[in-house]
Amino acid sequence: MQPDGQTWALVTGASGGIGRAICDRLLADGWPLLMVARRHVPLAALEGELRARYPNCQLASLALDLAQEASVSILADWCQVRDLRLGLLVNGAGVQAFAPLQQQTDAQIQAQLQLNLLAPIRLTRALLPFMDGRSQVVNLGSTFGDIGYPGFSVYCATKAGLHQFSQALGRELGAEGPRICLLAPRATDTELNAGGVAALNRAMGNGVDSPQQVAAALMALLKGRRRRYLGGAERLYVLLNRLFPGLLDRVLGSQREKILQFCREEHPAATPKEKQA
Ligand SMILES: NC(=O)c1ccc[n+]([C@@H]2O[C@H](COP(=O)([O-])OP(=O)(O)OC[C@H]3O[C@@H](n4cnc5c(N)ncnc54)[C@H](OP(=O)(O)O)[C@@H]3O)[C@@H](O)[C@H]2O)c1
Repeated sequence: MQPDGQTWALVTGASGGIGRAICDRLLADGWPLLMVARRHVPLAALEGELRARYPNCQLASLALDLAQEASVSILADWCQVRDLRLGLLVNGAGVQAFAPLQQQTDAQIQAQLQLNLLAPIRLTRALLPFMDGRSQVVNLGSTFGDIGYPGFSVYCATKAGLHQFSQALGRELGAEGPRICLLAPRATDTELNAGGVAALNRAMGNGVDSPQQVAAALMALLKGRRRRYLGGAERLYVLLNRLFPGLLDRVLGSQREKILQFCREEHPAATPKEKQA
């Protein structure tokens, strides 16, 4: 849908690499915007930056840990007391652990499941009453939601879940309901990929997008499409993986040792960010 100056957009993961590029584009287009992320300080700094760039914008931010169920109710209450309509929900907050499964702790596994999968499901359910048939939900999936990749088993599971959730809910809500969209970036140059993953991408020659390219793809989704995968080569691999999974077994099998070497060498960078609030 197009912004009408009254219907709000809500972006989770707003202070992250991709999130801030999305917020910038939405404000430039005139959306009233609520930004959500976990830590207050970077979020407040981002709000200050954006207010300076867009002095007339309608902008608010809330620092919430979306892994906590209570955060979802806080967001629904925030919409309720303001009696606002939600035109766009971007489920962008995410974490990843790049490590062999046996080296992933329970905390790492839970963090990925809760934030990447459970939080968007809960948040979408809680906010549907504030949306109408012109509204859109955009879930930030990943190429890894289609392609199981060594070293990312839990992350891939969460993104695959999010892909199926998007498709199933879209079909459930039908033409009258909000449009449920999936945006599946390939590797993108953000903090999420600091350390081992960035080194792996360089070594494998993987294409890496800028957050601005992902934000531009999201803006294109708002004009009508339901799903978008970034990267020509990645789209081809996704297709081949659906049609001939054995082929990708062989390709990735031949690269397995090299990939896992990066997990082992870069183990400190392989954990989800442990940041202080
Ligand atoms: N970067 C890539 O290569 C890539 C590729 C495909 C898909 N994606 C997906 O794109 C989305 C954005 O990724 P990104 O690269 O922009 O990541 P990022 O730079 O690491 O940003 C992550 C964002 O999520 C927020 N967040 C983390 N834990 C949270 C929690 N418990 N509660 C609320 N917010 C929390 C962070 O806030 P704090 O900093 O305050 O914790 C930050 O705003 C993710 O869903 C990711 O899986 C990324």
